[in-house]
Amino acid sequence: MPAGDLTWGRRFLCCAPVHFGVVYEINPWMHAEVAVDVDRARAQWETLVATLRAAGAVVETIEQPEGVPDLVFTANAGIVSGERFVPSHFRHPPRRPETEVFATWFARHGFSVERLPDDAVHEGAGDALPFGADRSGGRPVLLSGYRYRSEATAAVPIGAATGAVVRPIELVDERLYHLDLTFCPLDERRAMAAPLGWDRYGIRVVEELVPEPLWLSDEEALAFTANSVVVGTTIVMPHVPPAVGRRLEAWGFDPVAVDVGEFLKAGGACRCLTLALDVDLRAG
Ligand code: ARG
Repeated sequence: MPAGDLTWGRRFLCCAPVHFGVVYEINPWMHAEVAVDVDRARAQWETLVATLRAAGAVVETIEQPEGVPDLVFTANAGIVSGERFVPSHFRHPPRRPETEVFATWFARHGFSVERLPDDAVHEGAGDALPFGADRSGGRPVLLSGYRYRSEATAAVPIGAATGAVVRPIELVDERLYHLDLTFCPLDERRAMAAPLGWDRYGIRVVEELVPEPLWLSDEEALAFTANSVVVGTTIVMPHVPPAVGRRLEAWGFDPVAVDVGEFLKAGGACRCLTLALDVDLRAG
């Protein structure tokens, strides 16, 4: 199968870093005493969006209100499935006000907003990535990470609200606290995968799900290599480790590095700064 046949990843929601900063600490990368260079963050974000657009993606934007510095990480807004949007329930109180901001945007943009039960904790596409759409005519599997942010028990209501087949796996390294720091679907057969982030069961789930995995070394994983955005054959990455770049190119992909250093201070990179709007978890 040719590279670049992912059925989603042509339309994204992003948020310009108008009120971005590191003012609280909810993951091991965040240090409130480290200053963010706001102008540099803005320039990095503009380059990211321009790179996505040059690769052929449509990028929509949401405005960042004051008081929700992490709202720039739109991957955590929720989960999109067709015309449905399931807003996240954040684990940590400082991010909880984001839920209504995102729900309002999606309602205004023609989505039906499907709420999770109050006790379900889940941080959206940052912890849930589809893989395998179209294979043998089945629905895609929604691989979902839990422990540090999302709860395993959210798999049932997420499945009900999105129509997805949810496969939960446990994250085991606090530095890789969201699934999108460990897993990056590339096309219908391939994905970047960071075994450092999973237990033996999780590794086996990925081995069974992904016919051709690109296993990342621990060093590559901790440099956020999996936190990349795939637009057709273009892979927008926070950096391109040489071995990974060679493998991607051999498969027919075009890896492009975009410096998102200011956002790494908050524990996020390219994928975290985007939310795919064209995912349909019921399709098959
Ligand atoms: N500071 C943000 C947080 O800890 C970063 C979110 C990164 N998002 C992601 N999808 N990995 O919530």
